[in-house]
Amino acid sequence: MISTAAAAAHPNIAFIKYWGNQDHTLRIPANSSLSMNLDGLETRTTVQFDTSLAADQLILNGEPREGDALARVTATLDQLRRLAELETSALVKSENSFPTGTGIASSASAFAALALAGATALGLCLSEPELSQLARIGSGSASRSIPGGFVEWQAGTDHESSFATSIAGTDYWDLVDFIVLISSQHKAVSSSQGHQLADTSPLQGARVADADRRLDLCRKALLERDFSLFGEIVELDSTLMHSVMMTSTPPLYYWAPGTLEIITAVQEWREEGVQVCFTIDAGPNVHVLCPGTEAEAVKRRLTSLVNIKSILKCTPGGPAWVLGPETSGV
Ligand code: DP6
Repeated sequence: MISTAAAAAHPNIAFIKYWGNQDHTLRIPANSSLSMNLDGLETRTTVQFDTSLAADQLILNGEPREGDALARVTATLDQLRRLAELETSALVKSENSFPTGTGIASSASAFAALALAGATALGLCLSEPELSQLARIGSGSASRSIPGGFVEWQAGTDHESSFATSIAGTDYWDLVDFIVLISSQHKAVSSSQGHQLADTSPLQGARVADADRRLDLCRKALLERDFSLFGEIVELDSTLMHSVMMTSTPPLYYWAPGTLEIITAVQEWREEGVQVCFTIDAGPNVHVLCPGTEAEAVKRRLTSLVNIKSILKCTPGGPAWVLGPETSGV
């Protein structure tokens, strides 16, 4: 028996960050988070359940992968097999349209696409919350790449209560994310390893205790399209997460000198009257956010900086989607 399906998903950028878990195996996060899917970037994944396979196989960007990457894929496939009540192994082929391991969360789009492709291949009719729960098993942030537009992931307390939903569609706010790439090298310490260190920081308790307040303010700013409040909260939340990272044991410094250069430039531009703010994930690259009306001015300023490799422009992206056989491309 062979059954195949393909799906695609966008990565997302968190405005209120997920850092630390209540349960590392199920990836039940320490706090709720809020993000925007990134149009223009995507992972395309084909899942082929095949009774002739002895074990799951993973081909990522054309390269066979084993170890941790394959184990995470198998954990997601195991959930699907349990739901479909079968034991068949699968061949998973996944391609990213952007560099892996740069702080652009490729695991988010990868596991969202895997969950949707796998469920489709097995003919499972899962609801959006169920797909989001399933994607979360592979990578926490993947739960937010299932719904479209602006997305909130309720931390919950167990598998059933921890999933993401859309709070506003792609057209709700014309927000631009310039991803300023300082390095495309693979990050030294993965997010998964980092989440396990979060509780070693004396600052994590305070970060988590205040997370719902920040999330409420961020949601309000977003729904009212209030960029000034939005920028204040987004930068605070990002810097709180990096403070936890830097004060963990062992400490995690994801920033490079170029990261600080962009932070400083964004602060200067804001003082000059430009509506702009920054947020940074688990890597040195900086996401520079602005309303669409400011995009030209921000792009011009960004290209004048010297220590950057390249700039990707993203706008709000839709939900994960099923690909027809002719468009899967993997
Ligand atoms: C800094 O979802 O990549 O991007 O669940 O271990 O796969 P795993 O971690 P991951 O963590 C994302 C961390 C972050 C912040 C965020 O996206 O909320």
